[in-house]
Amino acid sequence: MAHPEGIVGVFDRAADVYDNVGVPWFGPIAAGLVAELDVRPGERVLDVGCGRGAALRPLALATGPTGRAVGIDLAPRMVERTARDLAGLPQVEVAVGDARAPRFPVASFDVVAASLVLFFLPDPAAALGAWSALLAPGGRLGVTTVGAQDERWRRVEEVFLPYLPPAAVDGRARGLGGAFASDLGMEDLLRGAGLAGVRTVSLTVEAVLRDADHLVEFSWSHGQRALWELVPPDARDDVRDQLVALAASITDSSGRLGLGGEIRCTVGARPAAT
Ligand SMILES: C[S@@+](CC[C@H](N)C(=O)[O-])C[C@H]1O[C@@H](n2cnc3c(N)ncnc32)[C@H](O)[C@@H]1O
Repeated sequence: MAHPEGIVGVFDRAADVYDNVGVPWFGPIAAGLVAELDVRPGERVLDVGCGRGAALRPLALATGPTGRAVGIDLAPRMVERTARDLAGLPQVEVAVGDARAPRFPVASFDVVAASLVLFFLPDPAAALGAWSALLAPGGRLGVTTVGAQDERWRRVEEVFLPYLPPAAVDGRARGLGGAFASDLGMEDLLRGAGLAGVRTVSLTVEAVLRDADHLVEFSWSHGQRALWELVPPDARDDVRDQLVALAASITDSSGRLGLGGEIRCTVGARPAAT
């Protein structure tokens, strides 16, 4: 298979370390989403953009051996590692698949989940429409997106900005703006996909790092890797030095180095057939 390009390529290169550097971040976010989706034993569940299984694992445990938990991701290495990690759960299938148009029969799932994926897609409304069509009547769909950004996250990202091409800076702003900027915007997106009973729950999460080196390691392991890869190689030591200095200034008086965040969890259901 050809090497994936763009953001999927970034995640493919991150696959070994993604959600695997000792920082509880994706797991707690996914746990919040899974709790809202209230998966019952025997249900058919799809996790779109499953990454290393932060949501797929708890979804699979919730549906149990009588259910079916399918994860798709466009990054082959994410798929390969996650399939290996979850090989002990017979209800799990993991495959390369495109979140923009997953290839499954209509009405073939009871639950569709996508944690921290939607804002990477070029047409989020179209993707949600495609996911909604996969739900059986009464099925639930839930997504997590980034809410109000913590000042400390913002300062970490600001370190990279002077090194990035303008198009990349604009792209990041777009990913946090528009429908993604408010609960109402997200809820309208889900309603536009034909979902009812749409609501948003705010999850408060904090990535706690051991020290400055851990902050740098964490930043290479997730979506921020896209920023690192855009920094010219001969400037990366400068960026690293600035992150180390920043880590000292955002460590609190008790020695805790954390990056907080508000995560928006928006869920809705396909109306039951009448
Ligand atoms: C921030 S990660 C989230 C992964 C996982 N859901 C979690 O919560 O840890 C985003 C994931 O979306 C995947 N992705 C991005 N665009 C995609 C697409 N068009 N189709 C499928 N997966 C995609 C990436 O490869 C990556 O694994």
